[in-house]
Amino acid sequence: MRVWDDPDLPPSRDVLLREVQEVDGLLCLLTDAVDDKVIAAGRKLRVISNYAVGYDNVDVAAATARGIMVCNTPGVLTETTADLAWTLLMAAARRIVEADAHLRGGEWKSWSPQLMLGQDIHGATLGLVGLGRIGEAVARRARGFGMRLLYADAARKPEVEAACRAEFVDLETLLRTADFVSLHTPLTEETRHLIGAEQLSWMKPTAVLINTSRGPVVDQQALAEVLREGRIFAAGLDVFESEPIPTDDPLLELDNVILLPHIASASVATRTKMANMAADNLIDGLGGQRPTNLVNPEVMSS
Ligand code: GLV
Ligand code: GLV
Repeated sequence: MRVWDDPDLPPSRDVLLREVQEVDGLLCLLTDAVDDKVIAAGRKLRVISNYAVGYDNVDVAAATARGIMVCNTPGVLTETTADLAWTLLMAAARRIVEADAHLRGGEWKSWSPQLMLGQDIHGATLGLVGLGRIGEAVARRARGFGMRLLYADAARKPEVEAACRAEFVDLETLLRTADFVSLHTPLTEETRHLIGAEQLSWMKPTAVLINTSRGPVVDQQALAEVLREGRIFAAGLDVFESEPIPTDDPLLELDNVILLPHIASASVATRTKMANMAADNLIDGLGGQRPTNLVNPEVMSS
C-alpha cells in the first residue's frame, strides 16, 4: 500500500501519474484530478474510490470504458452538509461574520437602530436548486422556520416534494421568487454555470445565494459583480471555481459574502464515516465484490 501522507497538500500531477501505474486500487480526494490521462496511466487499476459524494474530479466515462469501478461516499455526509448550508444561510442573512469583525475592529460605538440590519429567515421563501438527498435535508430544516419551499430540478420528485411540502417550479420562477436560494446539484455539463449573469439578474435585491455544491455551478465573476453592485443582498459560499480561491479574487474584497474553505462535510463524525465508506468501497471492489456505492454499475456486467 502506498499512502500520500501530507496533511495539507495533495500529490502533484507528476506524482499521481507515476504512482497510479503501480496500483490496483486508488482512494482519492476531490483535489485529485483523476482524468483520462491518469486513468490510462493506471494500467492495473480496477477501482477508483473517491472520498467525496461529488465525483466530478473523476472521468467516469474513461473509467467505465476501461472496466474500472468508480465509487463515492453518498448518504453519510448529507445531514452535516445540510447543517453547513443552513449555517451559511443564517450567517449571511444576519451578517454574522461582518458583525463579529465590526466588534473586534473596535467599531462598535453603541446600540443603534440601524446597526447590521439583515434579512428575516422565518417565514421567508427558500428555493432549492436540486432536491436530492442534501437538498431534501436542507428542506426538512426549513420547516422549523415556517418557510415556504420551492424547488427546481431536472426531474420532478413527487415523493420528496410531498414529504417536504415543496413546490416544483422552473429555475426562473424560483430565482425571481425566493428570498434564499441554495444550490444542491452535482457538477455536470448541464449544471456548469447554471447560475450565470442572466440568472443572477432574476434574483431579488434582498435575496441571499448559498452554494455548498460545486463552485463552477455559479459564474463566480458574474456573482462578484452582482454582490459588489448590491444587486443581491448577500452570498454564502463553501465552494469556488478554483480551489483554493486565488489571493487576488474580487470576492475577497466584499463584505456581503461569506467564504469558507470547502468544509461542508467537515465534522469529526462525518469525515470518519466517509473514510470508512471509501475504504470499504475500495476493499470490496478489489475483492471482486460489488461495492455498496458504485457510481458506474455497468462495469459489473461487462
Ligand atoms: C464534498 O464536497 C463532497 O463531494 O463530498
Ligand atoms: C448528493 O449529491 C446528495 O444529494 O447526497
